[in-house]
Amino acid sequence: MPSRRGCIAGITAGNRNDRRMTSVLHNLISELEQDDLLFEPNRLRERSDVLDRLETYLACDLPQDLDIQGVELQGRIKALCASIEAIDGRLYQSIRQDIQRGEGARRLLEWVPAVGSDEHANNPVGGDSYDYLDVLISGVLQIDEPDAQAGELATEMVFYQPTPARHIFDMVGRSALNEHDVLIDLGSGLGHVPLLAAICTGARCIGIEWEPIYVDCARRCADALNLSRATFIQQDARTADLSAGTVFYLYTPFTGTMLRDVLGRLKGEAAKRKIRICTLGPCTATVARESWLEAVGVQEVHRPALFHSV
Ligand SMILES: C[S@@+](CC[C@H](N)C(=O)[O-])C[C@H]1O[C@@H](n2cnc3c(N)ncnc32)[C@H](O)[C@@H]1O
Repeated sequence: MPSRRGCIAGITAGNRNDRRMTSVLHNLISELEQDDLLFEPNRLRERSDVLDRLETYLACDLPQDLDIQGVELQGRIKALCASIEAIDGRLYQSIRQDIQRGEGARRLLEWVPAVGSDEHANNPVGGDSYDYLDVLISGVLQIDEPDAQAGELATEMVFYQPTPARHIFDMVGRSALNEHDVLIDLGSGLGHVPLLAAICTGARCIGIEWEPIYVDCARRCADALNLSRATFIQQDARTADLSAGTVFYLYTPFTGTMLRDVLGRLKGEAAKRKIRICTLGPCTATVARESWLEAVGVQEVHRPALFHSV
């Protein structure tokens, strides 16, 4: 694949090198246009990589004086992007319809590499980067962008960042979330965790989030997908009702005293019934020191950790 700089030079054409680059790009685009496999619905991952690359070419600061070849090439890149987006759009729409019918689990889980498979081994679950699963989930959930600026966070509250989708699927699987459970995501942001858990399991899923704008977006998504088992409450996790929860998820929503206060409340809940706690990020180290919790399995950095109350 030519470098981004090379592509810019290639598109703008001019000297002999530039023309050679233009011709390399022409060939590459022709190959992609004729690659029937790429247009099969299940090739989302490949399409996502290709789209990234094409968008990089288009994002180049193109000068006004593109020659005819450059203009034609740019048009073909745009058309290819549009074709890919159309296929992806149809895929997302068909998965959304299955979710609305209550049949989303099978459609979503088929995209998640099975533990023990080559694909799983080649794509380690760790790290906080996003990948093709996040592209899929974003296309399927279609959560509205917040239409206003989120309020300023109090000290010790952590700003919004969604859990990468592969970690959500990992957490759902390892905690063995089922129809007898109530999952509570403490600091649920735009709601990815309760929404996906409600689609993929029989559990009731509750998001507790301090920022009302995020809660509105999550609720609208749950309504649009008929996910009556996913509900969202605008409240501070320090005062919210935690009495229904059997599984609690924390993607480091807060730190310091705030985290200790909420852990104190969870300890109180654990005195009444067995609970599981799933964590991701720096809060895991603090949670792991709680004597009333026992870690399940080996804890790996940058992967959700699972604890159960003793
Ligand atoms: C790192 S994000 C996690 C988002 C979501 N759990 C996920 O994994 O996709 C932390 C979220 O916690 C929220 N938050 C921070 N302090 C909170 C509190 N005391 N009560 C409720 N939500 C809080 C923030 O507004 C933010 O949306």
